Amino acid sequence: MKILLVGSGGREHAIAWKINQSPRLEKLYVAPGNAGTRSVATNIDIPESDIQSLKNFALQEEIDLTIVGPETPLALGIVDEFMELGLPIFGPTASAARLESSKSFAKAVMEKWSIPTGSHEVFSDPQKAVTYLEGLDTFPTVLKADGLAAGKGVYICQDKSEAMTALNDLMVTKVFGDAGTTLIVEEFLDGWELSAFAFSDGETTSSLVAACDYKRIGEGDTGPNTGGMGAFSPPKLWDKNLIGQIEDQVINPIVQAMKTDHEPFVGTIFAGMMITDKGPKVVEFNCRLGDPETQVILPLMKNDILDVFTSCVNGELKRIKVEWGKDTSVAVVLASGGYPGGYATGYLVNGLEAVCDSVNVFHAGTKLNSEGKIVTDGGRVLSVNTLGKNINEASETAYECIEKINFDDMYYRKDIAK
Ligand code: AMP
Ligand code: GLY
Repeated sequence: MKILLVGSGGREHAIAWKINQSPRLEKLYVAPGNAGTRSVATNIDIPESDIQSLKNFALQEEIDLTIVGPETPLALGIVDEFMELGLPIFGPTASAARLESSKSFAKAVMEKWSIPTGSHEVFSDPQKAVTYLEGLDTFPTVLKADGLAAGKGVYICQDKSEAMTALNDLMVTKVFGDAGTTLIVEEFLDGWELSAFAFSDGETTSSLVAACDYKRIGEGDTGPNTGGMGAFSPPKLWDKNLIGQIEDQVINPIVQAMKTDHEPFVGTIFAGMMITDKGPKVVEFNCRLGDPETQVILPLMKNDILDVFTSCVNGELKRIKVEWGKDTSVAVVLASGGYPGGYATGYLVNGLEAVCDSVNVFHAGTKLNSEGKIVTDGGRVLSVNTLGKNINEASETAYECIEKINFDDMYYRKDIAK
């Protein structure tokens, strides 16, 4: 098969690495990719949101299947546009991707289908939101931008004054642009979090896999939110009972809801879950694989990933059983100092050749400089993935390996999977 993978992060390097193991693969292209995807694929210089150029490329190269990594091209309708031309593509349509691109849409579907989630109110008029917050007496409360904000449009407010500041940021100053035109005020959910993933062909879903992600920049979960600074899989509690609850109360109903009321959801359902003492509740839905969760879950996948993607696209997922290994998988993200705020790029990445073969170093913000050397090119630069019989073994190996890698301003959390 000739495959085109869209995206350029650590998630896409991990997907490309896994695709590269498939006996069905004839040729793999990544658009635009990074210095890591170059080692397993051919990078194509087309940005992830340039749908017209991606379509032209897929037609010209007779691509058998396109796989979309990030949410932005999905929300822009890449799947709809490819399908119009009969080009096979893995991912949800723009309408189905509203589960991620519109939190108010996702909330309305969950409410109708009794999928457990926090109670909420939606506002498009800032004055009405102010009046509501003035009357609110339960804190913390959560304010969210309705639209896509790269995981950063969420404010956990401890009191009324913090809530008013957040409202001002989102709806008046519009720090996330139009994403803040509509505001969600949500019940604060207390518990521990996991990211649950299932593949869907619109009707059938695969077995679940889950990971825990470290969202804050600082050790001990302090400081601002990031895209994710590390992850491990499986979560410490991931038993039949919890898996069954998430399947029966969340994954199966959301797929049925989309098929019955909207458009079938084909792609990866990513349920951000809070495990509360009243059971699992949905924090958010995403319509793609997570980053850095992908870097820990794909090394556990036993299947040929092209079988999984093609079965979803062809509506034949019930023919295969998606299986996950029993090891524990850990990933630690190496970032540029300053991230998630401003940071410098262009620093040489040293020591990659010293990393042993059993460790996966997935690239995110890297590129080759004019001398063909790998340099930093983003906030999250690398993620170091290791497998072990248990979480301690996996995290020890990851941190030993990180000692060998360096670049100027390198920053990472030392408490991942600890
Ligand atoms: P989201 O972008 O909706 O996943 O939110 C980002 C992060 O904010 C989540 O992973 C949670 O850690 C936190 N968060 C979001 N909504 C809530 C909530 N209702 N209660 C508690 N924490 C939340
Ligand atoms: N790591 C969270 C996300 O990919 O949204």
